[in-house]
Amino acid sequence: MNKLSFRNRHVVVTGGNSGLGLALAKALAGEGARLTLMARNAEKLARAAAEINAAHPGSVVGTHSVDVTDERASAEAMNAAAEGQGGIDALINNAGILREGHFQELTSNDFRQVMEINYFGVLNATRAALPHLRNSKGRLINVASIAGLVGAFGYTSYCASKHALVGLTSCLRFELEPMGITVQLVCPAEFDSPMVVDLDKSRTPENRAHVRTIPKATLGAIVSDVVKGLATDRYEIVPTGMARAAVKMARLAPGLLRRAGDRAIAKAYEGPRPVEMASR
Ligand SMILES: NC(=O)c1ccc[n+]([C@@H]2O[C@H](COP(=O)([O-])OP(=O)(O)OC[C@H]3O[C@@H](n4cnc5c(N)ncnc54)[C@H](OP(=O)(O)O)[C@@H]3O)[C@@H](O)[C@H]2O)c1
Repeated sequence: MNKLSFRNRHVVVTGGNSGLGLALAKALAGEGARLTLMARNAEKLARAAAEINAAHPGSVVGTHSVDVTDERASAEAMNAAAEGQGGIDALINNAGILREGHFQELTSNDFRQVMEINYFGVLNATRAALPHLRNSKGRLINVASIAGLVGAFGYTSYCASKHALVGLTSCLRFELEPMGITVQLVCPAEFDSPMVVDLDKSRTPENRAHVRTIPKATLGAIVSDVVKGLATDRYEIVPTGMARAAVKMARLAPGLLRRAGDRAIAKAYEGPRPVEMASR
């Protein structure tokens, strides 16, 4: 796909009915992209499509209610999206979930669910879109997280899934670029979204203190940096200057970053709740 231009390109966005997925879809519609939004909740999908049309009248926005953990349903939805809009030029694998808590309080099922959506969901959508991206010499854009590059208190399940996604994406880059497919990895730090509103209801104080060593960004700032990054062929897109500085520090002086985390956690430390008080 041409650098810098989403005009008239068909972009599929998983998790396109909420948060970053919806905001990115809206921004790309503003650049003239045709869109297909995929997520489970059909009502929210319809509302998202209406919101994009209201912001950019005349936009072409298709929707498919699909659970990305269902391999066959993902393939059917992707093929239908390609058929409906003459191929697929870009897939943004953005659907994701978060489970935060002390390792002792997270269940094996929490770990499986997070991996199922954040890792296998991406695998399913990517497999389904691949023949179409190959035809279009298109773009695969995987939304991981800064939690795919460094660890954080309370994120054992989430970080593991995002690290797996980062590994998958870096291998796919080597395999798909020779076919003409551009691969990009997006690693945001925390920003305002429904996911974080939910997280804030129950997160551990240690997680809040650790994660907020990078100030929370606005959704607008994330979208603006991601759209700028997508318009280049840059592989790794880390939105916002503060997050880029943290990633740089993690690579150049990992001990310093770990100690800054240790200090923030120590100030907030409460530890796991007694077993009888833990809700899970
Ligand atoms: N918010 C942050 O601070 C932050 C930071 C770094 C990275 N991220 C990543 O950014 C991405 C978007 O997050 P967000 O904050 O915008 O969250 P969000 O508002 O909760 O959106 C998550 C989206 O994923 C969809 N989804 C979840 N499970 C799905 C499934 N099984 N099949 C299909 N769609 C599914 C949801 O729709 P349905 O429920 O209708 O299916 C929703 O559209 C995620 O990958 C997240 O890990 C977020």
